[in-house]
Amino acid sequence: MECIIITIDGASSTGKSSLAKAIAKHYGFKHIDSGAMYRALTFYAQDYNLLSDHKFDVETLIARLPTIDIDFTKKDSIMLNGQIIEDEVRSMEVSNKVSLVAKEPQFRQFMVAKQRQLGAKGNVVMDGRDIGSVVFPNATIKFFLEASMEVRTNRRYAELIEKGEPVSIGEVQANIAKRDYIDSNRDDSPLIVPENAIVLSNDKEGMSGLFALATAEIDKRLL
Ligand code: DC
Repeated sequence: MECIIITIDGASSTGKSSLAKAIAKHYGFKHIDSGAMYRALTFYAQDYNLLSDHKFDVETLIARLPTIDIDFTKKDSIMLNGQIIEDEVRSMEVSNKVSLVAKEPQFRQFMVAKQRQLGAKGNVVMDGRDIGSVVFPNATIKFFLEASMEVRTNRRYAELIEKGEPVSIGEVQANIAKRDYIDSNRDDSPLIVPENAIVLSNDKEGMSGLFALATAEIDKRLL
């Protein structure tokens, strides 16, 4: 039988990953956070001094791709060459640069191939920017999650403060706005509402309402 693929796209900090995680747990599916994959590659580039405020050595990072293993085999944690880097990929340092990595077509091709491999292994809930539009245009069911800038900023700020990162709310909002611009205006796979996607809003519903709406739609499709 064909694998079931549920996609959740949307801008950063709209609550995609929280919703994806809850849906995956409910149905016993694997959750793949595709944003974490781009973040892992960004962390690698920063760790190896290929990406900083002053430079981005795209050519060297492209040459290193065959040696870079990004996976989710251990529970739902993002792993880079065998190391769990869940906290590292959520840092402001990575957030500030990840859109620069994600706009390069060579890195997108690398990720899309990996995401399709992961989707071929079993039933998945995958969240990101281009999952319903490019990675799995024939997904079983597609969602697009929206939320106001205020809700998104507060979500990301609370996450970072909980992790002990010294950020201001203004810094978080500026980072989200900058990434929105780059993610929506890049040439390769910009953020769009995928064809046939069900649009949900995190402003009106909150997470429990979103979960109820999404699972009702999924049950209709699967039963
Ligand atoms: O969802 P997130 O904030 O963790 O995503 C981090 C960055 O990765 C985001 O700024 C854009 C990029 N991204 C992408 O281009 N395509 C995806 N499928 C997922 C994320």
